[in-house]
Amino acid sequence: MYEIIDGKRISQEIKDEVKQETAELAGKGIKPCLAVILVGNDPASQVYVGNKKKACEYCGFDSISVEMPEETSEAELLEKIKELNEDDSVNGILVQLPLPKHINEDLVIESINPAKDVDGFHPVSVGNLLIGRPGFLSCTPAGIIELLKRSDVEIAGKECVVIGRSNIVGKPMSVLMLRENATVTICHSRTKDLKEVCKRADILIVAIGKPKMITKEYVKDGAVVIDVGIHRMEDKKLCGDVDFDDVAPICSKITPVPGGVGPMTIAMLMKNCLLGTKRQNEV
Ligand code: GUN
Repeated sequence: MYEIIDGKRISQEIKDEVKQETAELAGKGIKPCLAVILVGNDPASQVYVGNKKKACEYCGFDSISVEMPEETSEAELLEKIKELNEDDSVNGILVQLPLPKHINEDLVIESINPAKDVDGFHPVSVGNLLIGRPGFLSCTPAGIIELLKRSDVEIAGKECVVIGRSNIVGKPMSVLMLRENATVTICHSRTKDLKEVCKRADILIVAIGKPKMITKEYVKDGAVVIDVGIHRMEDKKLCGDVDFDDVAPICSKITPVPGGVGPMTIAMLMKNCLLGTKRQNEV
């Protein structure tokens, strides 16, 4: 019988820990503040940003919401980030992606002060991750490590296969699993014999972006399966990159969609913002 890894419960646990620690910091006169910048009116981004603001409220953080129109120039956005970089009352800065096409995302990410880079997307954060120095970890991969640890999944010495090599999930995920002493294989669109490689995995982490692509032919009996994908189907239901009904019966543990990896991203963002606040205040 497989066990469901309950991301909703675990993310709530983390937010409660952050809330508790935030209340303790208040005694020292410190209150975390997250600035969230949204450019344009992408409906999905509006929902994400709204959820981030709600999480700030829940944890006892201040939040600053910067909403800029679609036609905002790159220079105007960079100027806004500069202002927030220099504002000591702001501990974390997040620019919601994607940005309008006329704005260079790399340039924008690089303009954020690495000490306030709570998304963990700045090259300095990525470099620190790679060489094992303290910094900010990208929220989704860090959330997956928490899911595994809090579900008593042993990582050290295990065969871990990550499908997907994006900068936001696949690459940092692989490095974090390596840091936890797994033997890591990264698969991508040019991988030969994907099924055979996936079948080696004790822990299979799927971030491909194709609905229900992973069926039981890709999964070893008793594997732990983590599904990063989220898709809205024609019948309005949400599904992941993993065909849950097909795969779950042969797993030991599996994350559902929704309610698996998704809720962890915001919980880890809150954790990062608290961490940044403590570092900036040297507590
Ligand atoms: N767009 C989709 N996911 C994310 C995220 O984790 N951070 C930011 N800034 N934008 C996103």
